[in-house]
Amino acid sequence: MKIGIVGSGGREHAICLSLNKSKKVEKIYCFPGNAGTGIVAENVNIDINNFEELKNFIKKNSLDLIIVGPEKPLVNGIVDYLTNNNIKVFGPNKKASQLEGSKIFTKNLCKEYNIPTANFGIFKNLIDSEKFLKTCNYPIVVKADGLAAGKGVYICEDFKNATKAVNEIFNGKFGKADQILIEEYLIGEEMSFFIISDGKHYKQFGTAQDHKRVYEGDKGPNTGGMGAYSPSRLENEKLNNEILRKIIDPTLYGLRKQNINFVGFLYAGLMIIDNQPYLIEYNVRMGDPECQTILPKLKSDLLDIFYSCVTSNLNSTNIEWHDDKSMCVVLCSKGYPDNFENNIEIQNLDKISLKNNEYIFHAGTKENSNKIFSNGGRVLNFVIRSKDFKTSRDKIFKIIQHLNWSNGFFRKDIGHKVIEI
Ligand code: AMP
Ligand code: GLY
Repeated sequence: MKIGIVGSGGREHAICLSLNKSKKVEKIYCFPGNAGTGIVAENVNIDINNFEELKNFIKKNSLDLIIVGPEKPLVNGIVDYLTNNNIKVFGPNKKASQLEGSKIFTKNLCKEYNIPTANFGIFKNLIDSEKFLKTCNYPIVVKADGLAAGKGVYICEDFKNATKAVNEIFNGKFGKADQILIEEYLIGEEMSFFIISDGKHYKQFGTAQDHKRVYEGDKGPNTGGMGAYSPSRLENEKLNNEILRKIIDPTLYGLRKQNINFVGFLYAGLMIIDNQPYLIEYNVRMGDPECQTILPKLKSDLLDIFYSCVTSNLNSTNIEWHDDKSMCVVLCSKGYPDNFENNIEIQNLDKISLKNNEYIFHAGTKENSNKIFSNGGRVLNFVIRSKDFKTSRDKIFKIIQHLNWSNGFFRKDIGHKVIEI
């Protein structure tokens, strides 16, 4: 089969390498991919927001299946567009993608189907928002409704910060805003919980814990993710069942009531409080870097799983996992998430020989004249699967030291809650 992967991050490189293990895969194309995907696949430089150009390439080269990594094309309806052109594509359609594309859509669903989540209010203008903020206990959380590349969430310590957040959102910092969300601040431990669905049935697809803040000790501004590990330390059968019963099942039921069938990965960002799950947000895709840490644990053929989803046959496909611990540490460009330089050469990559269960997934990299250069804030993902998290992390540090990239920095405390020092 000829496969196309839409996206260019570490998540897409991990998907690419996992698919490449399948005997049924004849060729992989990445749109546009990165220096890592370019080693096993053909990178095609197409703007992933230009659905027509993408469709023309897919038709011309007779691709059999398309996998969409990032949220933006999903929320903009890439699945509807390609499906209408008789192309098989793994991912949720535009309506289903509202779960990530509109936080207010999700909150309303939670309300209608009693899905546990932070108490919230929806506000249509500055005056009403400020009136409400005067009555609140702090901290409080202010959120833009639409996609904001992880930046539209403000945790506000006081009235002053909250009004600043509300002003920024209504002034269009994240695009035109007709409504905002103000919600209760939940205190607990976060967990990323994944399922995969074919529209009729779903299966669990692992758990992880990511580290979003840029500095050690989980401090500083939010990033796309500085590292992750799987499974989450909170995972247990009882909690899993609660998550399915209280959160996943009513969500899929609620969608179905609106004639929406969810096909693809669904990522529930949860807060666990006293062993009970609360939904913080949905993403309609795999997490990045969660994907990079989860996929190396997969025993089954990923292509079979994706294909069974687009043919509504997931129920008869087994998903088996290695019972190991996996960790991902992200090597970033100095200055990220603020200003950083691109186009810095990364030497030594070819000097690193990886053993079984050791991976380097590329994120922001590009190749030029057989040399590799940085091309983004998050540059490389180092992943190791082993019997315990400490072994994985120690090995990762050795590999990063060996690489010795002068423009890089990384967090040395990924997994601090699961590793005793
Ligand atoms: P989101 O993009 O909605 O996942 O929010 C980004 C991050 O903000 C989450 O991963 C949480 O760490 C934090 N967050 C969002 N909503 C809440 C909430 N209601 N209570 C506490 N923390 C929150
Ligand atoms: N790791 C967070 C995300 O993918 O949204």
